[in-house]
Order: sequence, then structure tokens, then C-alpha cells
Amino acid sequence: MVLQHLLHGHQAPGVIGRARGYEALTALVLNRRRLYGRLVTLADIRPGERVLDIGCGPGYLTALAARKGAHTVGVDPAESMIQLAQRLRGADDCEFRVGRAESLDLPDESFDVVVSSFAVHHIPEPVRAAAFAEMHRVLRPGGRLLVADFPPPRGRVARHLIGAMTGEAMSANPVERIAPMVGEAGFTAVTSGEHRPFLHHVRAVK
Ligand SMILES: C[S@@+](CC[C@H](N)C(=O)[O-])C[C@H]1O[C@@H](n2cnc3c(N)ncnc32)[C@H](O)[C@@H]1O
Repeated sequence: MVLQHLLHGHQAPGVIGRARGYEALTALVLNRRRLYGRLVTLADIRPGERVLDIGCGPGYLTALAARKGAHTVGVDPAESMIQLAQRLRGADDCEFRVGRAESLDLPDESFDVVVSSFAVHHIPEPVRAAAFAEMHRVLRPGGRLLVADFPPPRGRVARHLIGAMTGEAMSANPVERIAPMVGEAGFTAVTSGEHRPFLHHVRAVK
């Protein structure tokens, strides 16, 4: 709970308010270039594509996708995240907006690719199906989805430690529910994979 409390501040459930703390922590504990580089490869982002990053946080993945020549938009409900993303990673081909996955203020069929990294477990459970429906709505027919989240730790000790630091959201993160929900939202060709310790991913096509 300690880490969770330190990062969230006084925000709605799931929203990470302490953007600089999150940026510093992820830079410290994750090999971001490798981890997010893998996500860009899995999403197969191509020059000229329009890419939406949902729950973008400080925009590391959004910016990496833009470096592939895509025009990228990052959306997150935390104003502090969006401000930090704009400051660190804002550029002509990389824009950031405040918004929630379950009610995107974006037109139908306006993106070629939707990505979302480590944000699904932050979206409140009652609106998670609505979030996947929104991902489907904003993708063009044939558009691609890549959702990545943290798999729960395997061992009991690790589970206990993660639970003590971050709470239930990561110690028992039900990543196996993502693929069925993606299918229920209308996506096809749904596949999933895992790269331990940090990555469970689901890919699909509209
Ligand atoms: C663990 S962070 C991941 C940030 C970024 N994608 C990354 O990989 O570093 C989870 C993000 O989800 C955001 N979030 C929380 N509730 C959300 C919602 N309803 N819709 C979209 N994003 C949400 C949080 O504010 C936070 O920035």
C-alpha cells in the first residue's frame, strides 16, 4: 500500500497523480528502452500511422511510437501526467490530452493502432468493458490493438511483497481476463503472450 499511496496522491481511484515520482520510479526499476521497445515491435507500428496510447502516463511509449514515424496521441486522466508528458515528450508528431479510457473524446475510426501499457489494472473494474468498447470504436476497420499489463508474481513471497507495496491491483492482477474482454468488445484474431517478469500482452484486430 505504501507505494500505491506515494504515487496516487489525492486522485480518483486508479489515477496516478504523482507523475514525477512515477517517471523516476519506472526509469529506475524498468529497462524501459527494452520493455517499451518490445511493445512497439509487437504493435508493428509503421511510418504515417495514427497511434493512440491509452493511459499514457508520462508518455514514454507514446514518444517511442512517434519515433517510428507515426503520429501519436497519448490520453490519461491525470493532469499531472499529461503536463509532464507534454514537457518531456511533446512534439509535433506526439500530442497529449487529458481523458479516460472508458469515455474517449475522439472520433470513430480515427486511429490505425491503439496501444495501452500497464493501465488496464488502473481502470475501475465496472467500466473496463466500456474502455475496451472505446478502443474498438476509435480504431479503423482492420486497425490493430496491443494491450500490455503486469502479470501477477508467481511465488507466494513475491505476491505478498508486491501486495504490501502496491495493493491488490498488481499482486493479483487478473491479466487472463484481458483477452476475453477484448473479444467481447468485438475484436478478432485475439492472441496473448507473456515475457516475464513484467509483460503480459494481448493483440487483436478490429
Ligand atoms: C502504471 S501507469 C502506466 C503509464 C504508462 N502507460 C506507462 O507504461 O508508463 C497507469 C496509468 O493509467 C492511468 N489511468 C488510471 N485510470 C485510467 C482510466 N480510467 N483511463 C485511462 N487511464 C487511466 C493512470 O493515471 C496512470 O497514468
